[in-house]
Amino acid sequence: MVGPELTEATEKLLSDKGIQFKVTVDDVQKKIIEKEKAPTATTSFLSKQNLTNLDPLLASFFSKRSKDEIYTSRNRAKYRFGEYHSYEEMITWMEEIQRQYPKIAKVFTLGSSVEGRAIKGIKLGSPIESSTKRAVWIDGGIHAREWAAIHTALYFIEQLVANYQVDPQITAYLDNLNFYITPVANPDGFEYSRSDVTPQTRFWRKNRGGITCTKDRWHRERCCGGIDLNRNFDFHFGETGSSNDVCSDIYQGASAFSEPESRAIRDKLFSAELWGKVDAFITLHTYSQMWIHPYNHERRSFPADIDDLQEVGRRGVDAIEAMYGTKFRFGTGADILYPSSGGSDDWAKAKANIKYVYLLELRPGEEQWDGFLLDRKQLIPTGRETWEGVKAVFDAVLKKARLSAPPPTTPRPTTSRPTTTTPKLTTPRFTTAQVVTLVTRPAIRSRIQNNNNGNSNLRSTLHERFNRLRQQQLKARREYETRMAQQREYERQQKIQQQIQQQSQFVSMSNACFDRSRWCEAWIQSSPGICISSTIYMQKDCARSCRFCV
Ligand code: ARG
Ligand code: ZN
Repeated sequence: MVGPELTEATEKLLSDKGIQFKVTVDDVQKKIIEKEKAPTATTSFLSKQNLTNLDPLLASFFSKRSKDEIYTSRNRAKYRFGEYHSYEEMITWMEEIQRQYPKIAKVFTLGSSVEGRAIKGIKLGSPIESSTKRAVWIDGGIHAREWAAIHTALYFIEQLVANYQVDPQITAYLDNLNFYITPVANPDGFEYSRSDVTPQTRFWRKNRGGITCTKDRWHRERCCGGIDLNRNFDFHFGETGSSNDVCSDIYQGASAFSEPESRAIRDKLFSAELWGKVDAFITLHTYSQMWIHPYNHERRSFPADIDDLQEVGRRGVDAIEAMYGTKFRFGTGADILYPSSGGSDDWAKAKANIKYVYLLELRPGEEQWDGFLLDRKQLIPTGRETWEGVKAVFDAVLKKARLSAPPPTTPRPTTSRPTTTTPKLTTPRFTTAQVVTLVTRPAIRSRIQNNNNGNSNLRSTLHERFNRLRQQQLKARREYETRMAQQREYERQQKIQQQIQQQSQFVSMSNACFDRSRWCEAWIQSSPGICISSTIYMQKDCARSCRFCV
């Protein structure tokens, strides 16, 4: 995106350099207003409040919806699906569900955000007190701007509540499993992204931690901060696809779990209530239409039970397509999108030992430029098709719960403080077995020598053992070498990247003939000598007006 004061200069710069370009969205802010702020035809004479209390069928009639958007519900707690709402409205609705259906629903608080909002989820299951059943975790909105993911999580809650004891499949889900659904994992970010229609605000991704603003010498406020919560989990923290620059959209934070929002998810999953019971972890994002499974920190990296994850995931993808023909790509984020470490999904798989872990990137497709702005009309269809997809996961969990006794649980981790940064892998780490190999080898050799004329049986066993250990040692050596080679390659790539960055910075510094600030004329008028007295700054901000490059 380019601000209005820079469009002309940018176009000129590109044409001067012979770079072809195409404007994909002419006015982003206008688009935001068009797609999300336009009032529905009815709101002028029927207030939104009235619509909420209206019979849903009548409401949908009044709001002149197309067939796909008409949504009527048996749920006694009413919510206007197909519209965008505030965090408060969402929580009020969840609490109303708890009031109306105390036997199957209970709102829980998993933590509080940087700005002090309660992060709330809803537990659904029958009977609600049971905490011995296998469980499913769902969250949405870990990224602030991904509003359709939040709507979809709420739609899941609606489906479970409204169809319990109506649809046998849903009834079986709630009777045999516990669902923990947190629709807005990053409430501060979400509310911030709702607070203004400027692209900078609407497209906010991170939480609202560590925001600091400084005034530059022209008294313009420059603010940076916010942590990408999906880079703040303790799995290969701070390695690929994340940044240590607080201004970056993928800023990983000072250390893994430095943020209360990521800690809230960790602590709930590590709680005595949930630990060892969760068989599915589904985290909802937008957009790109992708069904992503672990691992994501590097390409071609999979968990040991990849076959199971693939089988169930592909079933989900097929179910989505069967609904409206929406096509999802399937694979690890590293393979089909980009590698990035510190995500909640990889952590859920590797550290919380959850079987079916998926990150879904919902509508629209990746070819869209304005995909975070999903037209209201697409909200319910998005919810519907995704619901069909996730049922494939619930079915697998249900089947597993019915077939087998629960797996033995590993001891529950206790964590209260954030985990500190893990350094990048530079030295090889040997597994216990490999270390043993290195230590015992000389001892064995001497035993073989000492037994020269002794029991040949013992000798050949020792010989065998020696060979085996030697093989292991060779393997460890090969692995070490590959790892070192990977490390060297990684560093080489980093260097190239740095060089490219430096070069492009140099190019833009030396050739830029445009004003970065729109106040240049005013400054020059009020203090005519400013181009000379503040050359360094003016060269950066007002190159054109100061005629530094003509
Ligand atoms: N778009 C998501 C993100 O950037 C993809 C994450 C895939 N998973 C991961 N652990 N990196 O957060
Ligand atoms: Zn996201």
